Amino acid sequence: MIRIGGHEFSDPIIIASGILPDVANYIENFCKKYKPSAITTKTFTLDPLEPHYPPTLIKVHEGCYINAIGLGNPGIETINSINTECPLIASVGGKSIDEIVKAVERIRNDKVVIVELNLSSPNRAGYGQDMASYVGEIVKNVKGITKLPVFVKFGPWDNINELVGKALANGADGVTLINTVKVLSVDIYSAKPLLKYGTGGLSGKCIHPLAVRIIKEVYEEYSVDIIGMGGVFDWRDAVELIEVGAKLVGLGTVIIDKGPNAITEIRIGLQNFLSEKGLKIKDLIGIAVRK
Ligand SMILES: Cc1cc2nc3c(=O)[nH]c(=O)nc-3n(C[C@H](O)[C@H](O)[C@H](O)COP(=O)(O)O)c2cc1C
Repeated sequence: MIRIGGHEFSDPIIIASGILPDVANYIENFCKKYKPSAITTKTFTLDPLEPHYPPTLIKVHEGCYINAIGLGNPGIETINSINTECPLIASVGGKSIDEIVKAVERIRNDKVVIVELNLSSPNRAGYGQDMASYVGEIVKNVKGITKLPVFVKFGPWDNINELVGKALANGADGVTLINTVKVLSVDIYSAKPLLKYGTGGLSGKCIHPLAVRIIKEVYEEYSVDIIGMGGVFDWRDAVELIEVGAKLVGLGTVIIDKGPNAITEIRIGLQNFLSEKGLKIKDLIGIAVRK
């Protein structure tokens, strides 16, 4: 069991934001069939947002993808229609502090156990990473209107510890690391970007060592609760993120690339590793960082 805020997670394997469609029925069935320990919703904004024009998702190398969905979503009210047995982590974004606070205020679904503030998506001007510099004020205001634990999701940036420090100083309960990395791929024949939007966010195997480094740096500095993600494709990748400080591990691109059976494979591999070593999950968290 892993405790965050008032909630006990049955094991560390959860679904990362933006991976499942924002359709209540789909999430309910996915939960029943594959039983992740929690499901993070797609990032919801106060009002609906149109996605960018396709192509919005391309494979660039084995296990590596670039996406620019652009936070398209049907609006925060959708979250209140999801009636699932799985705990939900509500991902929320916006282009102003006021909009983010108002969106969090609308959450009434009692399956939501954590609010995750998306201050890191690189794929829509004015949203996501463009809001990261306001992290202190955003967290302070959101903490003022919700009793739920508040996590802030960041990207793999050089000023990560400064931003995490501001989040924690204003009451954040933890951080989610990492979001996708802003990149560009060009079609050499048309000399145009492969994604219609231009740039995109790199995810999957190509970013795994980056996630390991960033999580380690943050855990070493703050020993804070971390939801870790970034290129987890098998149980060894999950163990690695836990050993550098992740308490929960998000699966993203692997679900798109290999399908949802990856959940059970990774969970069983992790359980076998723990029982071979005679360890409990809490013994493993941060073991590569603690001196
Ligand atoms: C298609 C796609 C859509 C995503 N949408 C969101 C999103 O709406 N909000 C968010 O915070 N992260 C989003 N992400 C980022 C993932 O939640 C995750 O942080 C990132 O992909 C790294 O994990 P991975 O390498 O296991 O995919 C998205 C990723 C992908 C591949």
